[in-house]
Amino acid sequence: MIAHKTHDVLGRVGRFPRVDLIHRPTPLRKLERLTARLGGPEIYVKRDDLTGLAFGGNKSRKLEFIIRDMLEKRADVAITWGSLQSNWCMQTAAAARTFGIKSVLVLFKNYDLPPAVDGNLLLDVILGADIRIQKAEKGKVVKSAQAMSVLEEVAREARGQGHRPYLVPVGGSLVRGDMDKPLGAVSYVAAFAEIVDGMRAGGIEPDYVVHSTGSGGTQAGLVVGARALTDGCRVIGISVSDPKGPFAVDVLEIARATDEVLGLGLDVRSEDVVVFDEYLGEGYGVVDKGVAETIRLVFQTEGIVLDPVYTAKAMMGLIDLVKTGFFKKTDRIVFLHTGGTPALFPNREKIVDCLAEKS
Ligand SMILES: Cc1ncc(COP(=O)(O)O)c(C=O)c1O
Repeated sequence: MIAHKTHDVLGRVGRFPRVDLIHRPTPLRKLERLTARLGGPEIYVKRDDLTGLAFGGNKSRKLEFIIRDMLEKRADVAITWGSLQSNWCMQTAAAARTFGIKSVLVLFKNYDLPPAVDGNLLLDVILGADIRIQKAEKGKVVKSAQAMSVLEEVAREARGQGHRPYLVPVGGSLVRGDMDKPLGAVSYVAAFAEIVDGMRAGGIEPDYVVHSTGSGGTQAGLVVGARALTDGCRVIGISVSDPKGPFAVDVLEIARATDEVLGLGLDVRSEDVVVFDEYLGEGYGVVDKGVAETIRLVFQTEGIVLDPVYTAKAMMGLIDLVKTGFFKKTDRIVFLHTGGTPALFPNREKIVDCLAEKS
């Protein structure tokens, strides 16, 4: 049963103030050649890689609300963390900078890329972010609890220098640090409404939305949007970092908090959160042959560039689910392209090597 109309949901999201950072709606179109190649179901793409801020991506939608919260709290330094090539950190630094807010980025080196100033790290440097690189275990994402002692130290240092820091949780997802509402996920409820509107403009309904899931906010927002606005559209998160069990708990926590702040009364349940962790490969950020071949396939068939850490793994999952008969031939699937393309370049050698390998 459809619980809400789009304008009602957007009205509720609209009660949360935001700054303007992105072009909306982002494009939505059918991937005709990929659909034909796989022999159905119909695959569509929602291009959130084209949001417009600093190479685009899902984080710009979240940051519209989070930057506004920083401004209201009179913060002048954003402190956050991620991996060495974090899209989140770069997008935060870019968005904050345009509003006169400095950034301190704690970057955990959890994959063995050469230490070159390239990809997102190059953009962080150009933005003038204060970069603190920390060692971390290969293929593992550093969790809030692990990062907290370093972050609190950085916040103390900033306060000591007379600044007003704002500690932003990684990915703008879990309600932690100075973010007291699930602002990132709220932005993805609106994004889901955009997807549904786009599909309905063509007289069709989405059966599934498939996307890359990392810190959980995007999936939580989409799940709330799907529950509120459709009669059974399922959201499938392809995990790029965590095993599904504990990760789904995080997504559910954020989704319930989002339902609550929007007053939708959806009673989000664990069955609403579908996560696949079968496509993690050797772990977070580790590029393998499947990833490189997926990037090549989608670029050659559709002219769309995927990134090696998030969206290629999600697309690899989607293609495998098609091949293994998870979907019906008549299903309509929207693949959400969440951005991340700057990470293609620092991974150049690995990608070239994988594509040169004989199968
Ligand atoms: C390109 C890209 N796609 C997907 C994600 C996952 O989004 P979320 O952190 O909201 O789960 C991220 C960030 O983690 C990302 O940078």
